[in-house]
Amino acid sequence: MTQRDGSAGDADYGVIGHGCRNYRQPEPAFAAAITAALGDAARVLNVGAGAGSYEPTDRQVTAVEPSAAMRSQGPGHLGEAIDATAESLPFDDDTFDAAMTTFSVHQWRDLEAGLAELRRVACGPVVIMTCDPDLLERFWLTDYAPEAISTEARRSHASTRIFDATSTTAPGT
Ligand SMILES: C[S@@+](CC[C@H](N)C(=O)[O-])C[C@H]1O[C@@H](n2cnc3c(N)ncnc32)[C@H](O)[C@@H]1O
Repeated sequence: MTQRDGSAGDADYGVIGHGCRNYRQPEPAFAAAITAALGDAARVLNVGAGAGSYEPTDRQVTAVEPSAAMRSQGPGHLGEAIDATAESLPFDDDTFDAAMTTFSVHQWRDLEAGLAELRRVACGPVVIMTCDPDLLERFWLTDYAPEAISTEARRSHASTRIFDATSTTAPGT
């Protein structure tokens, strides 16, 4: 589904995305895990970059983001993100040393097509941070907002599906 501001997923970031840069802050342990997974990649593609949360600041990052409201909140030093979607990335094969995407795959129209594109344009690691629907109920917020968590679980993809899609398109994922 494409929303008015270009949002490509099931959420309209033209409505919910304003101010995201002010309140969405990275969890340091997650950020450290992403840094470790990226290894020594110098050229990194960040797909579904949003307002730039979890985007490394010590590498050359290219951001892709379909929502205009989110692109306008990206980190200024990178310039505005490229208006595109995971399923059709406007880059040649192996343009990047690594590709990453954080909390975005559950919104993609075609998970396998998007992951194949990340694999195609990166010659090194493809780093994916997302929710595992089988583990979500162990999250502390379940005690306070069980319906919100079960909604997220329904939107999330099984980790095996993500792993299969990235590991069958090329080795080294
Ligand atoms: C929950 S936000 C996460 C933003 C950021 N990565 C973060 O961790 O803060 C999900 C983002 O994925 C983007 N998105 C949705 N569908 C997409 C698609 N098909 N391709 C690329 N990005 C997409 C949305 O516009 C939104 O900015």
